[in-house]
Amino acid sequence: QPKRLADYQAPIFSITHTDLVFELDATATRVTATLTFKRQQPGRLLLEGQQLKLERVRLNDRVLTAAEFAQTAESLEIFAPGDTGVLEIVTLLNPEQNTALEGLYLAEGVYCTQCEAEGFRRITYYPDRPDVLAVFTTTIIANRNELPFLLSNGNKVRESRLPDGRTEVVWHDPYPKPSYLFALVAGDFDHLHDTYVTSTGREVLLEFFVQKGALARSHFAMAALKRAMRWDEQRFGLAYDLDRYMVVAVDFFNMGAMENKGLNVFNSKFVLADDTSATDTDYFNIESIIGHEYFHNWTGNRVTCRDWFQLSLKEGLTVFRDQEFSADMGSPTLNRIDAVKVIRTAQFAEDASPMAHPIRPEQVLEMNNFYTVTVYDKGAEVIRMLQTLLGKAGFNAGLACYLQRHDGQAVTCDDFVQAMQDATGYDLQAFRRWYSQSGTPELSVKEQFDAATGKLTLTLAQQTPATADQQEKLPLVIPVKIELLFHDGSAAQQHLLILDSSVQQFQFDNLPQAPLVVWLEDFSAPVKLSTDYDVEQLLAIASRASNGFARWDAMQQFWHKIIKDAVQQSALPVLPEALLTAFRQWLITPLADLALTAELLTLPDFDTLAAHYAPIPVDALLNILQETTQLLSKALLPELLGCYQQLTTPAYHYSEADVGLRALKNRCLHYLAFTAEGAKRVTAHYQAANNMTDILAALHAAQHANIAQAGELMADFAKRNEANVHVMDKYFNVVAANPRDSVFDALEKLTAHPVFSWKNPNRVRAVYGAFSQRNAPQFHRKDGKGYALLAEVVTKVDAINPQLAARLITPLLSWQRYDDGRQQQLIMLLRELASLPMLSDDLYEKVHKSLP
Ligand code: ARG
Ligand code: ZN
Repeated sequence: QPKRLADYQAPIFSITHTDLVFELDATATRVTATLTFKRQQPGRLLLEGQQLKLERVRLNDRVLTAAEFAQTAESLEIFAPGDTGVLEIVTLLNPEQNTALEGLYLAEGVYCTQCEAEGFRRITYYPDRPDVLAVFTTTIIANRNELPFLLSNGNKVRESRLPDGRTEVVWHDPYPKPSYLFALVAGDFDHLHDTYVTSTGREVLLEFFVQKGALARSHFAMAALKRAMRWDEQRFGLAYDLDRYMVVAVDFFNMGAMENKGLNVFNSKFVLADDTSATDTDYFNIESIIGHEYFHNWTGNRVTCRDWFQLSLKEGLTVFRDQEFSADMGSPTLNRIDAVKVIRTAQFAEDASPMAHPIRPEQVLEMNNFYTVTVYDKGAEVIRMLQTLLGKAGFNAGLACYLQRHDGQAVTCDDFVQAMQDATGYDLQAFRRWYSQSGTPELSVKEQFDAATGKLTLTLAQQTPATADQQEKLPLVIPVKIELLFHDGSAAQQHLLILDSSVQQFQFDNLPQAPLVVWLEDFSAPVKLSTDYDVEQLLAIASRASNGFARWDAMQQFWHKIIKDAVQQSALPVLPEALLTAFRQWLITPLADLALTAELLTLPDFDTLAAHYAPIPVDALLNILQETTQLLSKALLPELLGCYQQLTTPAYHYSEADVGLRALKNRCLHYLAFTAEGAKRVTAHYQAANNMTDILAALHAAQHANIAQAGELMADFAKRNEANVHVMDKYFNVVAANPRDSVFDALEKLTAHPVFSWKNPNRVRAVYGAFSQRNAPQFHRKDGKGYALLAEVVTKVDAINPQLAARLITPLLSWQRYDDGRQQQLIMLLRELASLPMLSDDLYEKVHKSLP
């Protein structure tokens, strides 16, 4: 039975101190939890617990008899606890068998915890909710020879040898925290350390713990951490608050990383990198996620969530903060383009799916299912709109007010908006609807220009279609940034329109001539906006707008338009001469920003296009994408070649300029692969490459254009990189993206590869996540073979790791979006899944929401 936001009740008991003693053992770890509790209101003392073996309960020095407490599969109730007291609970865990990777688990010799959202209840019985904040003291007892590093949150207070030869280490975290921020790690690692002096003069020990032999691959992450610490001081005046900051990298992890107080745990693919094994994207992701987890220390840890419905309070805000950080470290334009792509593909798709929910969901069965692009990325867009409305200074003041007012508390999204309002005096009452309303708003616009008076009238209308979770939709407050461009060379004008009702008009006087309007500049709101511009107007914006994002966005609209026309006429798109002229121009004289040039030359991908159709014309879109790429390669061959050859590859260096250079060069290669000499060029590119970005570009191009040497290159790549699992994941990605029928045999072979393991989420995602998300031609096959394969994998994985299974299933849920034939296949598979005898809560929630 789902939980509802409307049913929230404050805790009956608080816990002031939580003392934990762990006696580590692979199959029988004993946890002794000593909880100092205090009654807050009348009611029962009910603790959450799952998959625990209870050994003993003691209340104030007296062991309780079976009649004094009651146990269910999910809880422990103490009958007469009194108003204050100390409860001691002893539980036994089996970390080795914990393949769900939630709670305490042992993988590759490392003990590791993941408690967010509700994993702490797999360690001990506890009020496992974010609004119970306690001071934690953690003792870890283990054999030092096997586990030299014994880590937990906060400061290390003691370390001693026990008479039996084991070692005991005691940690104390002075900041009261909810159980989801608890962490313990024990293992043998390579250890990188450094120091950082905060703006407040605190000397902080920074430590990275990585797998043996990987020390040299942790320097970039260390440097990124220091940049993040400095940036948060400079941008928001926020400094670190403990003497030690630890990051552990593990290869068995369900998501990207976790912000446990003072002891972050990371998926190793977001820590480890060097110039021979990492792509430009890897470096980017590491810096961004290191930043994200660090920024959580204020937005998440010092001020946390009252309940899990408020998750976007910390995640939307922290994604916004990491995006601002990345924009300052690199190219703001490219960062914005990447963030917008996520919204227009994954987030719009989620709105159109059975899992549609507002950034603050109202009903949840399995919380792990709500760590979504809506809560995270749309949540970040909502924060960005606040900054647009309040201005940077207003926003900074609002954040300062929020953190100061609520430091040490567990609060709600409303508290956040209230602080923004109080600090600035800006009325945000109507804006709050963004938190409760799901779906993608659609904007339509009309322009009227009176040449005699120079008056421009803009009419905006908004409407949000019903979503699976919510029928009624109301108007939202939508900030719409526009730019007016003039042919006669008059200075462009920028304006912010604030649309807060269904239809609204805005007027501008004394314009020199009819302007070309750039709508929704910087994607100032997470909405769909349609204009009736013709292709010439769109190409004019793409060539002339001063704002790089606007230029890219005009190209996106251009492609949507001509592809939509082609789909309607069951034909191939007609490429206007003006397009070829623009492409030639960009290839012959690229813009100063080479990465932006590469983006201007890139077609929208299948998922981006698909968001504009119901039902999705799968076969037509795939065919058009393929054919258009080939048309462009043919038409632009000399310019592509010229551009490709003119960009000389420097020694590898991860810098904004070099990233752009590689992006443009590899974009050219992608087109060149489809030409007569494609095979020769791709092979030469592979052989000459001095970095992973170029190597992967060659492999993807080889496979896409189906060049004869593709198999050979792939085999060579696999052989050279056997020893590095993260590079093998990239190899798996390429194999899984093979758009031809042979992919099924290839996938089968991959699962027999010595590096592959069904228990490792990175490996499973590298194979099957890539297959379902980067191989539209085979995944969406007419005969349903792609869907059936994913359903089979989901079934298998659910028994091992429900969180992973529930993520993998996503592309199967949205059957409504496809044609009848595909609908039938998907519904049949979902029914089969629904009838499985042992379905996890995670899958149950998604499958049952999806079934007709
Ligand atoms: N709080 C973590 C982060 O965004 C992610 C935790 C995800 N947890 C989960 N159960 N899916 O940094
Ligand atoms: Zn986060």
